Amino acid sequence: MGQVQTDQQRHQYLQAMGIQTWSLRQPQSRPADETLTPTDADARQTMQTESIVVQANEPSVVATDWAGLKAEVSACSRCELCQQRSQTVFGTGNRQADWLVIGEAPGTEEDVQGEPFMGPSGKLLNQMLLAVGLKREDVYIANIVKCRPANDRDPRAAEAAACEPYLKQQIALIQPKLIFAMGRIAAQNLLQSDQKVGDMRGQKFAYGDSKTALIVSYHPAYLLRMPSAKRKAWQDLLFARRVINNE
Ligand code: URA
Repeated sequence: MGQVQTDQQRHQYLQAMGIQTWSLRQPQSRPADETLTPTDADARQTMQTESIVVQANEPSVVATDWAGLKAEVSACSRCELCQQRSQTVFGTGNRQADWLVIGEAPGTEEDVQGEPFMGPSGKLLNQMLLAVGLKREDVYIANIVKCRPANDRDPRAAEAAACEPYLKQQIALIQPKLIFAMGRIAAQNLLQSDQKVGDMRGQKFAYGDSKTALIVSYHPAYLLRMPSAKRKAWQDLLFARRVINNE
């Protein structure tokens, strides 16, 4: 699924993410991820690998196949977000993906194009994925809510709850090895928690009955505002890759 990537390519992707990189003199003698940043090894030690089990709520009845689910979402009027959307933003990518990346809500660009993460956040997300050897098409990308909230406000709890059965059904269909929850809205809704992203990072949660591994990281929009956090996001991506690889 992930493509083979040279150190030079990864160096370029990390630079595109805005992360300063360098290589050890004998990189072939180390695992690839230790040739990149000084803090990865520290992150490996500090990040917990024990699962923290979180129970997801019972799903409401929704279509159980992709076509039916997509049609149901397109016609959805479960919450007031339906009133101002141009279209629903269902999700995109590989329906057999190991990685399910979950953001918050469609923004202006996504509302127009009907696909998640198409604007500046999406460009950074693409670079972040490439940095761990993944193309956008390798993963599945979805949001907590499928309609754009007016003025790009945070989705409300009731809106997230109304949309939750759709996301749950997507998760059931994809059966990803890992959910990568980006940002406060994604993490708090998926984990039914009010913890801060910074406090949830570095832990491997287990989502729902399937106990799907779930890792929390920063939202790309936050990383664009706070480039100094990109290094932590990079650590999260490496952590997620180790979890997927059972390392
Ligand atoms: N931010 C998100 O959380 N999701 C998108 O689809 C776009 C921006």
